[in-house]
Amino acid sequence: MRIVRTVADVRAAVREARSQGASVGLVPTMGALHDGHLSLIRQARADNDLVVMSLFVNPTQFGPTEDLASYPRDEARDAQLAADAGTDILFAPPVEEVYPSGFATTIHVAGITDVLDGAHRGSHHFDGVATVVTKLFQMVGPDAAYFGQKDAQQVLVIRRLARDLDMPVRIVACPIVREPDGLAMSSRNVYLDAAARQQATALNRALDAAETTVRSGETGADAVIAAARTVLTGAGIEPEYLELRSAEDLAELDRVDGQALLAVAARVGAARLIDNRILEATP
Ligand code: PAJ
Repeated sequence: MRIVRTVADVRAAVREARSQGASVGLVPTMGALHDGHLSLIRQARADNDLVVMSLFVNPTQFGPTEDLASYPRDEARDAQLAADAGTDILFAPPVEEVYPSGFATTIHVAGITDVLDGAHRGSHHFDGVATVVTKLFQMVGPDAAYFGQKDAQQVLVIRRLARDLDMPVRIVACPIVREPDGLAMSSRNVYLDAAARQQATALNRALDAAETTVRSGETGADAVIAAARTVLTGAGIEPEYLELRSAEDLAELDRVDGQALLAVAARVGAARLIDNRILEATP
């Protein structure tokens, strides 16, 4: 695996591979890698000749009161894990390479960013994500880019962005990878102390309860959400949001019909966690 730090170097490496006819897969990350990230790298490895992983803690997607300064960083560890999972090129640019002085452009995806994390973290969050992902696509020029369903709204924002701006890249969404007790893997799980780590399992259990409710034939949003909320309340968690929305465009739903996204965000101990489940009513 090669580590490159400039746009010129990542372009040169990709150009060289392309001249041999290689297909290129990109896995954007902010590092602090876990099995969720590695599952994306493995999928990219299976689908492409050249796998590029970007490692960049993108300052513009963090709010002023968020965890940019304390975000876990360990490049040497990440490089080892990325290489072992099949990365060919680790692109780890410094902040000035991505945002040189005078940088003035923002990509804003309207509509679907107004709800869920967009509403609760503020519009800067998805503007930051959309802008940096657009830049990464421009820098690397991948055939396919890999994202986790863990960040379901992020996947929708990036699909919309790629479609709206005619970006010649296939967006691949990969399933949520969980700890054995169901907690969705996240770089932010390191903020959880033992008690909060235990409490955090309630998010997945709440989604399970909602799924059971739908399977039993009760598809009304109120009942589905109530089933999930009962589990959260039982664990002492007050969600920031717990909402049932269309899995396609995040429109509000009053019942599960087709593919519905049940999305939750909550503060648990020192961490802000998100999780979600696609629910489908079986006829
Ligand atoms: P980061 O949080 O590092 O996540 C990188 C990718 O890993 C994202 O596509 C995310 O959805 C995926 N991922 C995280 N946890 C996962 C899990 N448990 N199972 C499956 N996939 C998981 O998301 C970002 O970085 C940034 O917003 C980024 C897209 C890199 C732009 O800065």
